[in-house]
Amino acid sequence: MGTTGGLDFSFDRRVVSDYDSLRGHPPEVAREIGQAIAAQMPSSARVLELGVGTGRIAVPVAQAGCQVVGMDVSAEMLGELAARIRQHTLDDIELVQADITAPPFIDRGFDGAMAVHVLHLVSSWAEVLDQVRRMVRPGGVLVLGRDWVDPESFSGRIRTAFRKTVVEVGTEMLPPGASAAAAPSGGAAIVKTLVQQGAVPTGEGELVAAEWTTELSPRQVLDGIRSRDDAESWVLPDDVLTETMQRLDALAQQEWPDLDQPLPVLRRFMLGCFRYEV
Ligand SMILES: C[S@@+](CC[C@H](N)C(=O)[O-])C[C@H]1O[C@@H](n2cnc3c(N)ncnc32)[C@H](O)[C@@H]1O
Repeated sequence: MGTTGGLDFSFDRRVVSDYDSLRGHPPEVAREIGQAIAAQMPSSARVLELGVGTGRIAVPVAQAGCQVVGMDVSAEMLGELAARIRQHTLDDIELVQADITAPPFIDRGFDGAMAVHVLHLVSSWAEVLDQVRRMVRPGGVLVLGRDWVDPESFSGRIRTAFRKTVVEVGTEMLPPGASAAAAPSGGAAIVKTLVQQGAVPTGEGELVAAEWTTELSPRQVLDGIRSRDDAESWVLPDDVLTETMQRLDALAQQEWPDLDQPLPVLRRFMLGCFRYEV
């Protein structure tokens, strides 16, 4: 694939081949996530996923009874998902290669939409949300999903230290699609924009769709950041990443002397759900 507006990285073959092993959910967790999202939608809903990727979310949502249209700009990510669709004979997922900033769909053609780890990649995310409002029928639902890692776990603490160290080393920590001039795409800004566009949160705050524990060693987390498998380190200049990792390695060695000792990490998958006013 090429790059998208303002992106200086791509979901290319390297990212694709590692994506599911790094970010995939255990089968039972994937099932729970699919069912929780489908439960927010009308029965047999036609649902658009923005940035469908390898179908980590779309596949279980389709298996839970929705008809999913997955849009993504990356031919490689879609290729991986197409292979999975063939392998599991999934009839209820349609794939469309397109940029979410220019979606090729008619007004009110969907009962719902979902977006997981994609809006922060696009500086014009507010316009993307306005397009979603156009494509989803009144009364339809938008689900925003995200993976959550316990900030108190060792992995959460390494990530917090990583972000702090990047800033100390001298770079502003911006997500890949953002620029200092663009509006921030944090949760509160997104909720405010959605409400201005006529979407109403369906509950108080986010829902926990699934909760589970994994085991990882500090070295695995450090190496994930170092090798740029971790999305937050994709966009760092080489010298900033090298200096950051030197400081982070020293800090981790002090805190967890056996870097290879697996430790538990509590994880959740969170859903923010919004309904477009009729
Ligand atoms: C971090 S992955 C998330 C994939 C999937 N939503 C998930 O949670 O597993 C982001 C996906 O968004 C896609 N993407 C990024 N910018 C995009 C754009 N402007 N238009 C369409 N897809 C985009 C990437 O190709 C990639 O597949």
